[in-house]
Amino acid sequence: MFPSILIVDDEPSILDSLGGILTDEGFEVFTALNGYEAMKQLALISPDLMLLDIWMPGMDGMETLKEIRKEHPSVPVVMITGHGTIETAVQATKLGAYDFIEKPLSIEKVVVTINNALNFRKLQEENLYLRKKALEKHSITGFSPAIMELRNQINIVAPTDARVLISGENGTGKEMVARTIHHLSPRSDHPMVTVNCASIPQKFMESELFGHEKGAFPGANQRKRGRFELASQGTLLFDEVGDMDLETQSKILSVLEKLQFQRVGGGRTITVDVRIIASTNKNLEEEIAKGNFREDLYYRLNVVPIAMPPLKERTQDIPSLCEEFFKEFAAENQSEPKTISQNALEALMRYPWPGNVRELRNLVERLVITTKATHVDIRHIPPAYKDSVAEPPTECEENVFDVESYKEAKKAFEKTYVLKQMAKHGDDLEATAQAIGMDKVSLKKILKNVG
Ligand SMILES: Nc1ncnc2c1ncn2[C@@H]1O[C@H](COP(=O)(O)OP(=O)(O)OP(=O)(O)O)[C@@H](O)[C@H]1O
Ligand SMILES: [Mg+2]
Repeated sequence: MFPSILIVDDEPSILDSLGGILTDEGFEVFTALNGYEAMKQLALISPDLMLLDIWMPGMDGMETLKEIRKEHPSVPVVMITGHGTIETAVQATKLGAYDFIEKPLSIEKVVVTINNALNFRKLQEENLYLRKKALEKHSITGFSPAIMELRNQINIVAPTDARVLISGENGTGKEMVARTIHHLSPRSDHPMVTVNCASIPQKFMESELFGHEKGAFPGANQRKRGRFELASQGTLLFDEVGDMDLETQSKILSVLEKLQFQRVGGGRTITVDVRIIASTNKNLEEEIAKGNFREDLYYRLNVVPIAMPPLKERTQDIPSLCEEFFKEFAAENQSEPKTISQNALEALMRYPWPGNVRELRNLVERLVITTKATHVDIRHIPPAYKDSVAEPPTECEENVFDVESYKEAKKAFEKTYVLKQMAKHGDDLEATAQAIGMDKVSLKKILKNVG
């Protein structure tokens, strides 16, 4: 497809000559003789680019530009300036015009400017696409009450600058929540920078956080900006803050108050505007009691606490999480997402998930790699993830294959299954019926039938 260009100029001769040349250059050209006509055309053809004359009778180029910015903000506009309107053209770029070209028009300059503007637009679109993808990637899956409440908390806290302390077991989604808060905040156009407190050695911490000047210490060959500065206007995440050493804790304590600091080896005080989020898998109150964490720092970080629920407390989210991860890995491999059977899901819902969502995600990835079938069944689930009763036991399987009729095979399975389930639930009829999703009367009847 040829890129389309709308040329707006009150001189028909310019429309003719410029239009002709650009058509020869491979563009699809549309023209308009004034601002009103341009606005009408714009709505109809949504061109990839506009060339807009500044001086036109009636609605001039500047007025037209303002209208375009309001109604079609993504179309790049290149202004055409006549003699004496360069000042205005500069003004126009401040109003959002991409660039300007001067009359008399040099065709070479026109083509170069057009191509630059089109590339710029393409980059902008790619950027938008990537941001949308990033948001999708960090979107929180699940509909359990705990996750609904989590979304609620995120929506309340995200638009503010309040400090948030996210706590929870490994793999519960702490970092994902921090990213979601950043993406939904007014700071989302600026960076989110993470400080992994568990992995940065103490001796490098100060220069990592605050940066250093050239020559501050042996090996500091050039000035380096620290994470506080890199996160300017954005969000700074102290990941696993419970692992931060006491010396660093006392250093950041004072910095957190005014967001002012000095680079290592530098005398100038730098003030930054950053929002602070911290996450931890440790119980910080216990760490305070043990003397491993400063109480004053805890209060400075823990303005809004968010507690991540462990996966075993919200097993109803497992089916939607599985679906989400199957989709994600299918997209990575450009294949169709696999589906999963009810009994496989039920087994996964009984598993305790010590590694939480991360462990589930890893299992799904493993299933995508190791299972050829498009439908994942209980027999594809690795043994560690199913308890002994989830699968028909071997003795039953043998019975099943030994008998001739389907009816008898079914009965053999039924017998082993209900007896095992009864044993698992202490021979309590009601508890067993509830666990296997059957009413008491039917279960009693089956038990009677199988003797
Ligand atoms: N509710 C959820 N919906 C979708 N994906 C999730 C959800 N919770 C966690 N994940 C995914 O699980 C993985 C682990 O999440 P994340 O890294 O945020 O957890 P964490 O609590 O920071 O873990 P760790 O303690 O190991 O650092 C990530 O791939 C994340 O995208
Ligand atoms: Mg984490």
